[in-house]
Amino acid sequence: MEEIGVGIIGCGNISTIYFTNIPDYRGIAVRACADMRPEAAAAQGEKFGVDAVSVDALLKRDDIGIVVNLTIPNAHASVTFDALSADKHVFSEKPLAVDFDEGQRAVAEAETRGLLLGCAPDTFLGAGGRLARRLIDEGAIGSVLSGAAFVMSHGMEHWHPDPEFFFKPGAGPVLDIGPYYITALVNLLGPIARIHAVSSTGFAERVVTAEGPRKGDKIKVETPTTLLSLLEFAGGQHMTFGASWDVWKHGHMPIELYGTEGSMRVADPNFFGGVVETTKQDGDWVAHDSGDMPLGVPNWPSDAPRLANYRGLGVAELAAAVRKGEKNHASADLALHVLEVMNAIVAGGSIAMTTAVERPPALDDSDAAALMG
Ligand SMILES: NC(=O)c1ccc[n+]([C@@H]2O[C@H](COP(=O)([O-])OP(=O)(O)OC[C@H]3O[C@@H](n4cnc5c(N)ncnc54)[C@H](O)[C@@H]3O)[C@@H](O)[C@H]2O)c1
Repeated sequence: MEEIGVGIIGCGNISTIYFTNIPDYRGIAVRACADMRPEAAAAQGEKFGVDAVSVDALLKRDDIGIVVNLTIPNAHASVTFDALSADKHVFSEKPLAVDFDEGQRAVAEAETRGLLLGCAPDTFLGAGGRLARRLIDEGAIGSVLSGAAFVMSHGMEHWHPDPEFFFKPGAGPVLDIGPYYITALVNLLGPIARIHAVSSTGFAERVVTAEGPRKGDKIKVETPTTLLSLLEFAGGQHMTFGASWDVWKHGHMPIELYGTEGSMRVADPNFFGGVVETTKQDGDWVAHDSGDMPLGVPNWPSDAPRLANYRGLGVAELAAAVRKGEKNHASADLALHVLEVMNAIVAGGSIAMTTAVERPPALDDSDAAALMG
């Protein structure tokens, strides 16, 4: 199989796991990297043995078919648009764009040019997401009536060396972490028809405590950091969704679904593996472990693996779709719907969605296994 060349734009924090994992996938190979900070591209290029070039030079290369956009959220739309304009397929980190209009423009550009545009999260294609989807589709808890999803912590400034962007418009807990949850829910339950939301900002300022050159810096918070919402799905299910960076401790599960025949605890959608639990009516929780399924075996952190971190899966899945002439699962349509939902939650009030997507087709285990080299 001839490999499709990948060019990575954005050589910051998350790029390391992409550089590390992409060689493990079949049919893709990183050929070059670029960053608006040439020293960042040079460092990753040297570490992973690929050419470090300028963004313009990367987009002109004939040996690159897919651009992976790992820039910060505010740059996603423009970098994606430039890469599509250079006739490259694109896989972008989440969110697809900050503004819905920009996201729509990117989707239209990809369609006009006959290119595939994919977007993180791809975690729902990991073993935990596939297992939850299979159990739902098999009727393990009957028809889902309602549910609750929570992603809450005390922020990002304690671990990310440059956490400024998390607290600016385009990020905050809903646009930053919400994509994992909302994408997982749309994959399980279908599109969202309407949201009702309120938000607040717990702290006007954050102090960077992560080690690094920005330690001690103060960050002005310019986006809400606690957002509570109700999601009304087109299929009639109702969910509570809470996202916050103002919470020190809590006891909520990431996602619980309540069905006519039982309940389900979905594995943390930020990861690719994990355990899905179900009940028959009010019986005991029964654990279904995805740890021996393709793309579920713990591989991270590399020195003592306890979690499944297969970032890059969406790039491999997009490359497979390019080869087959099919649409990719982690598609731009799905990401655009998720973006509309997230922007509505941030805007607050009661808002009907204008986009509607089909649930992506389920990825079966053999197709998932075939993506690995
Ligand atoms: N850090 C994580 O754990 C994590 C996890 C999942 C997803 N993500 C997502 O990945 C993306 C990147 O996150 P990160 O933590 O690596 O951020 P980062 O700030 O560490 O790195 C971003 C890099 O992009 C570069 N950049 C910004 N604008 C650019 C442009 N216009 N052209 C070229 N380069 C540009 C910056 O110089 C920087 O090196 C974000 O969208 C984030 O939401 C991050």
